[in-house]
Amino acid sequence: MVTIKSKKEIELMKEACKVVALTYQELEKRIKPGMTTWELDQIAEKTMRSLGAIPAEKGYNIGIKGVPPYPATLCVSINDEVIHGIPSKNKVIREGDIVSIDTVALKNGFNGDAARTFIVGKASKEAERLVQVTKQAFFEGIKFAKPGYRIGDVSHRIGEYVHSQGYSVVREFQGHGIGREMHEDPGIPNYGKAGRGIRLEPGMTLAIEPMVIQGKPNILQLDDGWTIITEDGSLAAHYENTILITEKEPEILTIL
Ligand code: MF3
Ligand code: CO
Repeated sequence: MVTIKSKKEIELMKEACKVVALTYQELEKRIKPGMTTWELDQIAEKTMRSLGAIPAEKGYNIGIKGVPPYPATLCVSINDEVIHGIPSKNKVIREGDIVSIDTVALKNGFNGDAARTFIVGKASKEAERLVQVTKQAFFEGIKFAKPGYRIGDVSHRIGEYVHSQGYSVVREFQGHGIGREMHEDPGIPNYGKAGRGIRLEPGMTLAIEPMVIQGKPNILQLDDGWTIITEDGSLAAHYENTILITEKEPEILTIL
């Protein structure tokens, strides 16, 4: 079921989304070569809790048999890791890495969801381009995130743009509605046919999240039950915001 949020609910949701934006502001300041992904996770959890929010990914059950509840505040996925990398004291961030972080804050009973890919120190030109294209794919997609268009128009534009840049989109994971639940209807693939799917209406809140691979689109899942990597070992990037559909342009709730 697609939920339309009331004015009051939107106000509450904005607070949850603001916590996510502030958490990224803190992470961007503090991410450095030599740190572990566990240290990043600690920073994020402290930041969220200090802002009155709960890290919603911690303990989250994705609902797939055999997959344990997610153990951390952040997903931290480095280089050829696409999404859902689990923070670890053994995992050190190095100069030149691209580090995709995805996190969800729960505040006032509502969720805010966003992802960023950080370039640590100086990375290759090709890595920089991948990160830039992934971010732009989000902005291309949301050009269609308004009344008069359908979900398929957003999906189609994201896929079309990414492919035009010579990259692939992940097909097995997608964006989603968001609100009291982290994942609500509709699902929002990063590819698809224009003119298909539900019509966009004011009051819908959506997490749009291009996951882009430099090489082939195929992915593998590691034995931890979570981490997704590229099959060909090429780099991957992720960019996501929670947005609100309005009468006119969408509002991006997870950017300050
Ligand atoms: N935040 C992710 C998303 O963008 C969900 C990650 S699964 C979790 O939809 F278990 F880590 F929460
Ligand atoms: Co999401």
